[in-house]
Amino acid sequence: MVEIFPSGWRLQFQQHPRWLMGLLTTHRTLVLVFSIVGFALVFGWQTSSVDGLAFFRWGTVARPSPRLRAALYNLTDFGGVGDGKTLNTEAFERAVEAISKLGARGGGQLNVPSGLWLTAPFNLTSHMTLFLAEGAVILGIEDESYWPLMPPLPSYGYGREHRGPRYGSLIHGENLKDIVITGHNGTINGQGQAWWTKYKKKVLNYTRGPLVQLMWSKDIIISNITLRDSPFWTLHPYDCKNVTISNVTILAPVSGAPNTDGIDPDSCEDVLIENSYICVGDDAVAIKSGWDQYGIAYGRPSTNITLRNLTVRSVVSAGISIGSEMSGGVSNVTVEDLIVWESRRGIRIKTAVGRGGYVRDIFYHNVTLNNVRVGIVIKTDYNEHPDDGFDPKAVPIIENITFSGIHGQGVRVPVRIHGSEEIFIKGVSFEDMSVGLSYKKKHVFQCSFVEGRVIGSIFPAPCENLDLYNEQGKLVKRSMSQNVTDIDYNI
Ligand SMILES: *[C@@H]1O[C@H](CO)[C@@H](O)[C@H](O)[C@H]1NC(C)=O
Ligand SMILES: *[C@@H]1O[C@H](CO)[C@@H](O)[C@H](O)[C@H]1NC(C)=O
Ligand SMILES: *[C@@H]1O[C@H](CO)[C@@H](O)[C@H](O)[C@H]1NC(C)=O
Ligand SMILES: *[C@@H]1O[C@H](CO)[C@@H](O)[C@H](O)[C@H]1NC(C)=O
Ligand SMILES: *[C@@H]1O[C@H](CO)[C@@H](O)[C@H](O)[C@H]1NC(C)=O
Ligand SMILES: *[C@@H]1O[C@H](CO)[C@@H](O)[C@H](O)[C@H]1NC(C)=O
Ligand SMILES: *[C@@H]1O[C@H](CO)[C@@H](O)[C@H](O)[C@H]1NC(C)=O
Ligand SMILES: *[C@@H]1O[C@H](CO)[C@@H](O)[C@H](O)[C@H]1NC(C)=O
Ligand SMILES: *[C@@H]1O[C@H](CO)[C@@H](O)[C@H](O)[C@H]1NC(C)=O
Ligand SMILES: *[C@@H]1O[C@H](CO)[C@@H](O)[C@H](O)[C@H]1NC(C)=O
Ligand SMILES: *[C@@H]1O[C@H](CO)[C@@H](O)[C@H](O)[C@H]1NC(C)=O
Ligand SMILES: *[C@@H]1O[C@H](CO)[C@@H](O)[C@H](O)[C@H]1NC(C)=O
Repeated sequence: MVEIFPSGWRLQFQQHPRWLMGLLTTHRTLVLVFSIVGFALVFGWQTSSVDGLAFFRWGTVARPSPRLRAALYNLTDFGGVGDGKTLNTEAFERAVEAISKLGARGGGQLNVPSGLWLTAPFNLTSHMTLFLAEGAVILGIEDESYWPLMPPLPSYGYGREHRGPRYGSLIHGENLKDIVITGHNGTINGQGQAWWTKYKKKVLNYTRGPLVQLMWSKDIIISNITLRDSPFWTLHPYDCKNVTISNVTILAPVSGAPNTDGIDPDSCEDVLIENSYICVGDDAVAIKSGWDQYGIAYGRPSTNITLRNLTVRSVVSAGISIGSEMSGGVSNVTVEDLIVWESRRGIRIKTAVGRGGYVRDIFYHNVTLNNVRVGIVIKTDYNEHPDDGFDPKAVPIIENITFSGIHGQGVRVPVRIHGSEEIFIKGVSFEDMSVGLSYKKKHVFQCSFVEGRVIGSIFPAPCENLDLYNEQGKLVKRSMSQNVTDIDYNI
């Protein structure tokens, strides 16, 4: 009977058993409880007969899943068992097979009901909606022998951690279109703990797999779900077009969960990521486009990417990163209405000689940095290379990077723009910035080899490398020292 209440009520029951027992013995409360139970029974029965979905079961009241495609399937129709022990790989594969036969005419929706659905990796198909009901959890099997090996990504040349092949992703798709992964906040859980431990013990022979990876695909919507504990990067759209990620929660432990980036748009165009909360063991979002000579040869940029209304946290890395793999180029990125809290780095661009490519036309607006060690970072010596075959003459270009409406408090070093003689940073612009400091007042706006401007007054005072303009956009003071270095990693 207690099961009939939503989980919030159950929690209170567990916390106050004595109070509850007292209450339940009173006649009035019993009448009230039975009326609610009765109402739920009738309401559940009526709704289920209206839309034809058998969503009501004894002991639970589930929100009915909406019909988003012409053809509806339930994982249980394919023999799925949500007990957390039975392997459901074949059930998922049979469901995907059934949907793949529907073709473009409306496609199919696979409902995953409340339960724990253990599975090995499986592929999606085009014109498919994967719908995770409230309380539905897809669990990735921990035993890596169930994870298929795949060729390395062409723009990386190697698996990111080992040469040769890499593990595929738990949920995978290639050359697809019209993919939706959504739900009533159901969860895809990679059970990454086992992978992180093996990675740290160096017993894995291949690069770990992402949680969800869609490659060479377009027209993708991922919304209203929770992704957690990925073995490696969480959500990896690779060379995709027209991707919307909205209303998602991405979680992994803030430390001890290596490389659990939240979202890695990689050689993608027309991407919107919004209204989401991301707290993971590496960068919350990292926009990429391939690694050194492999990324240059593949030559697919990431462009037209908008991130808005995100709240992110990264204790070991950065809130929003671009790079360090950016060899295909990254351009036209807008990041707005962002909150970064209790993180090591706020917003960061990282690259190195050998990457080639460019990072240009990047616009950050309305960013709140709360208790962040280094707020804005441009780093040009991220010297991690796939092999010795990188071209030392492949110098990345960094230009036209705008920061406006940068606020917050408890920041140690608000700005560190570390250009070099080889990678001179051009066209940086600051306007409307006031960041509360947590440490000292000197050397907190660090620069080297950078050209750009400050419009109006900002806090903390800018480095001498930048030109000063007044609010009306009139030059007040031109910098004579763009190459001066005031970088101090000890703060
Ligand atoms: C799927 O089928 C199971 C078993 O018949 C049922 O309990 C569940 O409510 C159904 N879920 C959806 C989302 O249709
Ligand atoms: C999943 O897709 C990959 C890449 O297209 C393919 O190699 C693999 O055989 C597919 N797996 C299944 C079970 O269909
Ligand atoms: C979805 O679930 C996650 C994890 O339980 C939770 O943190 C988040 O608040 C939920 N989102 C919504 C919109 O309920
Ligand atoms: C890695 O390779 C070694 C040597 O072939 C093998 O003994 C070991 O089981 C492999 N480890 C995993 C996790 O596959
Ligand atoms: C982008 O994808 C969405 C969802 O599939 C679709 O509705 C929309 O038409 C696509 N946009 C373009 C420009 O193709
Ligand atoms: C996601 O949830 C929001 C708020 O409940 C809703 O407006 C939206 O339609 C949902 N998206 C999908 C694809 O179901
Ligand atoms: C996200 O939720 C908002 C309402 O909270 C809704 O308007 C929007 O359609 C949702 N996005 C998607 C892609 O479902
Ligand atoms: C940029 O991407 C958005 C989706 O986020 C899309 O609506 C828009 O048409 C794209 N712009 C261009 C020029 O392709
Ligand atoms: C911003 O995203 C949060 C979820 O993280 C959502 O609750 C809120 O409604 C969004 N705000 C706007 C203005 O869309
Ligand atoms: C650049 O990004 C903005 C914001 O998403 C978009 O409106 C515009 O169409 C993009 N331009 C190009 C050339 O992609
Ligand atoms: C700035 O972003 C914050 C956090 O997303 C939001 O609450 C606020 O409304 C935004 N301010 C403006 C002026 O858009
Ligand atoms: C700089 O980038 C912005 C987008 O952030 C773009 O609108 C503008 O045209 C670019 N300026 C130059 C000089 O390329």
